[in-house]
Amino acid sequence: MQLTTLIAALSAAGITTALPSVAPRAEDAQDVNPFLGKNYFANSYYAGELNQTVDAFLARNDSLNAARTRTVQKTGSFVWVTSVAGLSNIKTTIDEARAEQRRTRKPQIVQLVLYDLPDRDCSGGQSGGEFTSANGGLELYKKTFVDPYAAALKAAWDLTFAVIVEPDSLGNLITNQNVPFCANASSTYEQGIAYVIAKLQAPNIAFTSSRPTKPHFNHQLAADEFAKVVAMAQNMTGTRGGAKIRGFSTDVSNYNPYIADPRANYTEYSNSYDELHYADSLAPYLTNNSLPAHFIIDQGRSGLQNTRDTWGDWCNVRAGFGIPPTTNTNSSLVDSIVWAKPGGESDGACGPTINGVLAPNAGLWWESYVEALVVNADPPLAPTYTKRW
Ligand SMILES: *[C@@H]1O[C@H](CO)[C@@H](O)[C@H](O)[C@H]1NC(C)=O
Ligand SMILES: *[C@@H]1O[C@H](CO)[C@@H](O)[C@H](O)[C@H]1NC(C)=O
Ligand SMILES: *[C@@H]1O[C@H](CO)[C@@H](O)[C@H](O)[C@H]1NC(C)=O
Ligand SMILES: *[C@@H]1O[C@H](CO)[C@@H](O)[C@H](O)[C@H]1NC(C)=O
Ligand SMILES: *[C@@H]1O[C@H](CO)[C@@H](O)[C@H](O)[C@H]1NC(C)=O
Ligand SMILES: *[C@@H]1O[C@H](CO)[C@@H](O)[C@H](O)[C@H]1NC(C)=O
Ligand SMILES: *[C@@H]1O[C@H](CO)[C@@H](O)[C@H](O)[C@H]1NC(C)=O
Repeated sequence: MQLTTLIAALSAAGITTALPSVAPRAEDAQDVNPFLGKNYFANSYYAGELNQTVDAFLARNDSLNAARTRTVQKTGSFVWVTSVAGLSNIKTTIDEARAEQRRTRKPQIVQLVLYDLPDRDCSGGQSGGEFTSANGGLELYKKTFVDPYAAALKAAWDLTFAVIVEPDSLGNLITNQNVPFCANASSTYEQGIAYVIAKLQAPNIAFTSSRPTKPHFNHQLAADEFAKVVAMAQNMTGTRGGAKIRGFSTDVSNYNPYIADPRANYTEYSNSYDELHYADSLAPYLTNNSLPAHFIIDQGRSGLQNTRDTWGDWCNVRAGFGIPPTTNTNSSLVDSIVWAKPGGESDGACGPTINGVLAPNAGLWWESYVEALVVNADPPLAPTYTKRW
């Protein structure tokens, strides 16, 4: 996924919703951390991609890193649903998560990304989507993508969902008005995302939205934009208080550490030099706009630091798997550390080469890259050894 080069520590400008499962209670789920007491469901699609990584390490007799890769296979990460055709992945994921819930008797939280806005990736072009605003894309997005997406989640009342909505999009609006295609996409993005927020409301939805980071980023502009979109959603539901979000997702598909030690020199002028400081800096602006100051923070590829030349480097940066998903965040602002970007899926045909080989196109598997993520993981991945015949 493309992040604009203008945005240093950009996260998603999305919304994370959680549709909790248990019967609706008087207290709304957005008032509690939806990750607490849940198992981060590990989907089979990503685990399947990683089978070749296990095999590659084993072929080199590297049983330690093969075993570490098995740990990644069991670590809950997000399923990216990025097209109408991809909606079928929701059903597969729900079926598997239900089976896991029955098997383990432990409530599962299913983590999904919703990513198919018209004029998607307006600044970058690495991750353009199937809809364009020039072609009636907004209506198609609503009817053929968002509606069935919301219906599938609402029907699975026995599971909890955390959804990151349209990562990057609002961030692009805020920081890339100088890009004509982004400026023109503003209204489409706002209407599309407001529609998603309105549609994904359920009796016990908890919402989270995300924040862009930039060395000199204007938090007020971000908070104002988020507040505007939530208010639009409010209007769409026609109910006062009828559109709620849980909070914001940050560092999605990016590489910033939760807590920097040492602080990277290229962040010199920013109070948001790591994700925890970003959350702390943005929180009062959100609160002042009547938005919830709760965060989930992607650390899927933040395990190796200070490998970038500039803060804005976003494409296939040399990295390791980072802090595994946990609610033990030591911050009342941060609901959970998550792994949002599936490590190994390329950001685009850009960034450093490995052994002289350039990355494949966005979303495609890059085996050498994921092997480096395993080896460079910080904290190191605990190995999972399995009995072999
Ligand atoms: C990955 O390997 C595991 C263990 O051998 C197997 O159960 C699973 O079906 C494989 N997944 C895919 C997609 O091949
Ligand atoms: C891996 O170990 C086996 C058994 O010890 C050995 O026969 C084989 O040559 C080794 N392969 C590599 C790539 O080192
Ligand atoms: C700009 O956005 C409008 C919808 O708001 C759309 O009708 C128009 O085709 C877009 N222009 C371009 C160049 O994409
Ligand atoms: C919501 O609706 C009210 C009343 O019609 C209107 O004044 C307000 O501008 C709308 N807000 C947004 C963000 O569309
Ligand atoms: C930051 O710059 C100082 C002075 O050039 C250097 O000594 C230090 O190693 C740099 N720190 C990092 C994390 O790169
Ligand atoms: C939030 O509002 C309070 C009270 O109006 C004000 O003192 C404070 O400076 C505001 N904070 C931010 C970050 O805007
Ligand atoms: C929270 O603090 C504990 C105790 O110091 C530490 O073990 C843990 O790693 C911290 N969590 C994170 C996400 O940094």
